[in-house]
Amino acid sequence: MLVKIPKMNQKLQIFLLLIISLSCQGYETLDPIRDQIVLYKKRTEGVCTRLTTSSGAPVESRDTSTLNENLMYNPFFMDSLTRFTRERIQERVVHGKGSGAFGYLEVTNNLTQFTKADFLNGIGKKTPVAVRFSPTVVERGGTDINRAGRGFAVKFYTQEGNFDFLGFNSPMFAIKDPILFPTFIHCQHRNPSTGLRDNNMLWDFLTLHPEALNMFFTMFGDDGIPRGYRHMPGFSIHTYQMQNKEGDIYFARLHFQPDAGIASITTEEARYLEATDPDYFSRDLYQAIACGRQVSWTFSLQIITLEQALNSDIDVFDVTLELPTDKYPLTEVGKLVLNKNPVNQFADVEQMAFCPCNLVPGIDGAPDKLFEARTFAYRDTQLYRLGVNVNKIKVNSPIEANNYNRDGNPPVGDNGEDTPNYYPNSFNGPKAYTDMNRSKLIEIVEKKPNNTAQVRQRYRKMSDGQKERFMSNLIDSLGPTTPLLRERAVKLFTQIDRDLGSRVYQALKEYQREPACKMYF
Ligand code: HEM
Ligand SMILES: *[C@@H]1O[C@H](CO)[C@@H](O)[C@H](O)[C@H]1NC(C)=O
Ligand SMILES: *[C@@H]1O[C@H](CO)[C@@H](O)[C@H](O)[C@H]1NC(C)=O
Ligand SMILES: *[C@@H]1O[C@H](CO)[C@@H](O)[C@H](O)[C@H]1NC(C)=O
Repeated sequence: MLVKIPKMNQKLQIFLLLIISLSCQGYETLDPIRDQIVLYKKRTEGVCTRLTTSSGAPVESRDTSTLNENLMYNPFFMDSLTRFTRERIQERVVHGKGSGAFGYLEVTNNLTQFTKADFLNGIGKKTPVAVRFSPTVVERGGTDINRAGRGFAVKFYTQEGNFDFLGFNSPMFAIKDPILFPTFIHCQHRNPSTGLRDNNMLWDFLTLHPEALNMFFTMFGDDGIPRGYRHMPGFSIHTYQMQNKEGDIYFARLHFQPDAGIASITTEEARYLEATDPDYFSRDLYQAIACGRQVSWTFSLQIITLEQALNSDIDVFDVTLELPTDKYPLTEVGKLVLNKNPVNQFADVEQMAFCPCNLVPGIDGAPDKLFEARTFAYRDTQLYRLGVNVNKIKVNSPIEANNYNRDGNPPVGDNGEDTPNYYPNSFNGPKAYTDMNRSKLIEIVEKKPNNTAQVRQRYRKMSDGQKERFMSNLIDSLGPTTPLLRERAVKLFTQIDRDLGSRVYQALKEYQREPACKMYF
């Protein structure tokens, strides 16, 4: 209460307070972000919690100060300082910054023909989900507002285990050969010597691996920076294999379209937001959920039959390509709704661990090499980042898990209690099930990437205004690079489209590289 009330008798004071709180509701309404800690106090009024050490010893008030006292024998000091100095864990090697939320998927369509996945079978069926959105190449604590790809990860807690969807806000990826992944990321992360982002590194990569341009052209375009996560779509990029109860196989790319509509911010808005509120995306998502706004996406499958996959003129498994929705239309699955914020960011978001390897019967993963590499990479990185009991951490725990894994560092959970710890056994330990109808993941032959035609089309489809803004964003990035790379880029762009090549050439000629050793102050 910010209204000052002069000394007066208590009854009158309470009466006045009541009037004020009833009459200026807008003023009195507490904000879920600004006033989080105030709301906590309100919620727990009257509850008195005793302070203890980690091992539960009550803390005596004189131990809360150490001046002129022995430190080693002060359990509060020793406990809190040793605990504090070790509170950081490994940051994700990519997608370090992110925002999480919880909610559910509600199925609105009959999909039994395409997949036997239990959570997708049954109109009206609801499955709880955890979601994390993340700028790809931004460190924990960094900005939300950069011009780069963004992650869209959903964990479905199904009756048949967790299904993890790890998508992007672009319908295609930059590379097809997973051996390039460390290169692709290093050239967007910081220069090892300067510690700063480096346009030469990025453009060296883009001009040596032009298959990345299809994705980067979307990023330099008008939809390069979403207007917050609520306006951001999600794409699986990979073409998943699915199968129904009979073992008939289908393929599908997964699409999430924001019900609030896809919307983006301009370069100028981004500059302003980055300077004033670099956490804008996280804030916007948290606030929308806390204030009861509808935050939802329509989840669809872009279904491809085996027949179509075999006869398509476009390689439907090529992750550097977008699959046209006029040729392969979307089939609605349901609504993804987010209605609950994390209670604790570390427990609920930092410890989230998604893996493309987390699949359910009826969704078999994708047959391309990038997917195969990913099924390995996420396991590997999470064993390092969170330890072998990663799936026992609460936010990652499936509804049910029964297996013969035991112990491990750090230990989490009940460790299987008294159940047998070896398989097979004759003593009623968990048993495997049989599905004679199950089809295997198909094998495909992958050609070298070539998406020039799509890049060309992407450029040619832009309006004059779109081309102008695209060029400006592109030159912001390419302009500062060294002549070798600028020449290589012009050559490449000319091959894609003569007009594009000559525009870039002209713009680079006019671009003033900053003089060396320019100081701002
Ligand atoms: C060879 C290719 C790739 C490799 C090796 C790779 C590797 C990784 C690794 C190591 C992480 C950190 C995971 C963690 O610490 O929990 C990560 C995060 C992520 N990746 Fe990939 N990635 C690849 C391609 C992709 C593609 C194609 C997509 C999208 C379709 C994608 C989407 C994501 C997302 C959304 C996250 C963040 C997950 C979270 O919020 O915790 N990645 N990736
Ligand atoms: C769902 O579709 C299948 C055919 O694809 C049909 O056999 C089944 O009866 C349908 N189920 C419901 C509940 O409509
Ligand atoms: C396997 O497929 C056959 C038809 O091909 C069907 O009759 C049978 O019910 C299926 N089995 C299971 C376990 O779904
Ligand atoms: C890529 O494919 C196009 C046809 O779409 C072809 O004209 C071009 O030569 C190919 N480029 C490479 C490097 O193979």
